Amino acid sequence: KKVVLAYSGGLDTSIILKWLQTTYGCEVVTFTADLGQGEELEPARRKAELLGIKPENIFIEDLREEFVRDYVFPMFRANAVYEGVYLLGTSIARPLIAKKQIEIAERVGADAVCHGATGKGNDQVRFELGYYALKPDVTVIAPWREWDLKSREQLIAFAEQHQIPISKDKRGESPFSVDANLLHASSEGKVLEDPADEVPDYVFSRTISPEEAPDTPTIVTIGFEKGDAVSIDGQALSPASLLARLNQLGHDNGIGRLDLVENRFVGMKSRGMYETPGGTILLPAHRAIESITLDRGAAHLKDQLMPQYAELIYNGFWFSPEREMLQALIDKSQEHVTGAVRLKLYKGGVHVIGRTSPHSLYDQDLVTFEEGAVAYDHRDAAGFIKLNALRLRTLAQRKKRDGA
Ligand code: ARG
Ligand code: SIN
Repeated sequence: KKVVLAYSGGLDTSIILKWLQTTYGCEVVTFTADLGQGEELEPARRKAELLGIKPENIFIEDLREEFVRDYVFPMFRANAVYEGVYLLGTSIARPLIAKKQIEIAERVGADAVCHGATGKGNDQVRFELGYYALKPDVTVIAPWREWDLKSREQLIAFAEQHQIPISKDKRGESPFSVDANLLHASSEGKVLEDPADEVPDYVFSRTISPEEAPDTPTIVTIGFEKGDAVSIDGQALSPASLLARLNQLGHDNGIGRLDLVENRFVGMKSRGMYETPGGTILLPAHRAIESITLDRGAAHLKDQLMPQYAELIYNGFWFSPEREMLQALIDKSQEHVTGAVRLKLYKGGVHVIGRTSPHSLYDQDLVTFEEGAVAYDHRDAAGFIKLNALRLRTLAQRKKRDGA
């Protein structure tokens, strides 16, 4: 029996590690990923070794480029937001972690995988749908749904009993739960649970407040190629370094805070606080480059499909035929989404101030109020309006006739 555990190196997943060894008596393989959460990975290796994991059973991978290139960017091509505002920072990371765990399971001949998500949330669903989609016969272990360590005291007692190091700040209840990666940091639970109460200042980690942001705006130009951001102010950047740069710009200008009550897939409402500085800049920039390069029919169709695509990602169906079908459609729409967008960042706001593209459909000659454009004849508009008005006039006549 071998199990691949998604291991952060933190207290909770260290307890899970020991629990797997003692309860299941299985050989534990740890997988720790750098998704840009902003934590060192080597301490996780040392801790795994300390807890008795053989060096060949410790896997550590830097997934930052893959995460942004193959997950975040495809999602931004769709302008995906859940329930109108959530940029899906946690949702989009889960399929990649699941995929890597399964790859490692295949490599080391493990039959089981394990994650540290609770039994009440979305993440358990996302991890496990990913596992099953990629390895249908896999055994899934979800300790939070199985063990009887019901309180913080019991968890700490278990840790002490098994010589798991506990840092001082972890002894007490942590004041809220965090999930972080290059796209966002999300905080939920505990002090955030009452949606009537404002989020306390100490929860924010990725942004300064708009009130503290500089009084002079920052002007930035983002270059796009086929729907993906490729440069900032003319400098070509890899996907992960580009998002990191946008995160810095967002941080400094107080951009990307979101206090949201959302509907979890499992049925309950939850309140979260999200900080997505770079993503909050990228979304309107992408929409702006689309605004001059996409035909109206294409633009409106992808806008209609977007909520469904976002919900698939939120609910954990990244590896589903319907998500892949929608992705093919979205990617096809991006063929000419190339050019540059100029933005003004100012005290929490992102303002588009210019856009250019070699493939622009914007025709100044066509739209100008001055005389011009042979392709458009004013006289055609009269007939166009009359035919469109026909049924409205028929309805109005009936209303008059019926005296209503
Ligand atoms: N509610 C968000 C989602 O479902 C974030 C979940 C994880 N966040 C956390 N702080 N534990 O995508
Ligand atoms: C968790 O339950 O582990 C975090 C919250 C969520 O998955 O929605």
